Amino acid sequence: MASSASRAALSSIPLFHEKLLKSNRILAVCGAGLSAASGLPTFRGAGGLWRNHNAVDLATPEAFDADPGLVWLFYAYRRHMALTAKPNPAHYALAELARKRPGFKCLSQNVDNLHVRANHPSDQLSLLHGSLFTLKCTTCSWKDLYNIADPLCPALAPAAESNPDPTKPLPLLDPAQPLAEIKESELPHCPDCKTELQRPGVVWFGEMLDEDMLDDIEEWIEKEPVDMVLVVGTSSAVYPAAGYAERARTKGRTSVVTVNLEITEEDWGRMRKGDFGFEGDASLLLPELLRPVIGEVKGEEEEEVEG
Ligand code: APR
Repeated sequence: MASSASRAALSSIPLFHEKLLKSNRILAVCGAGLSAASGLPTFRGAGGLWRNHNAVDLATPEAFDADPGLVWLFYAYRRHMALTAKPNPAHYALAELARKRPGFKCLSQNVDNLHVRANHPSDQLSLLHGSLFTLKCTTCSWKDLYNIADPLCPALAPAAESNPDPTKPLPLLDPAQPLAEIKESELPHCPDCKTELQRPGVVWFGEMLDEDMLDDIEEWIEKEPVDMVLVVGTSSAVYPAAGYAERARTKGRTSVVTVNLEITEEDWGRMRKGDFGFEGDASLLLPELLRPVIGEVKGEEEEEVEG
């Protein structure tokens, strides 16, 4: 049970709307649950396994060093899935909130490019964990900021295949079907230094986030008090993202608003007076919650994104 606020007040849409209409400085911290309705699996819980591997275990420099072919296949598959997916109403709702409220900033842990494809203004979006569509050299400073080749190279073609028999799992995802070994020489190499492998431009466990971006976020939080933090579709298990809601809180002023498919008793218990919790699919909830500011969200035409 919530310690300082009643459950009815914490999940009251009219009270939330009242606060939203008075809020100018709004921060959103988003996670994989935001893109779940677009058909992209989350990391923890159902969908967190890829073949027999824990998705989180494949997202490390050590996993890449040990088996770059396997890790590249995992990322090539995620690139393919993200390219096939479409932004959902929650992405469009956040993009529209950014246009309606210049004091809104969205921090997203998602690397699927769906915020960008929903035309979220880029100066109001920080992609904490990078992008599946950025390629980097493992060693030198070479980078390709936007590459959507699918497959990226012939050896990664199994990740871009459509399922020959939709009644069965995709052969790539079926752990009973062995994977053909991919040699390092078959993977994309850096066009600058020529010797080293390319890798996905995402932040792996144990790696630093972009320092300029972190400074920018700190500056934004420090500048003026924050009225509202929307914590959308994240398990809040990974830092620094998990810390931003409390970091941005000014007691008595900031409402922390949790939008998640599942809100545990522990989560409710941590909420304070003036906070909110809405349990359900973010793609349904966000357009409804933000409607007084953004109006009806239309699934807009995607704009061509240039690198
Ligand atoms: N609507 C809202 N929330 C949802 C939905 C949905 N349709 N579906 C799932 N969720 C919630 C789950 O209840 C869970 O709390 O989304 C959250 C997803 O949590 P994680 O899978 O842990 O994803 P995330 O928080 O984004 O993970 C953080 O961990 O593996 C790394 O780098 C990766 O960016 C990722 C980071």
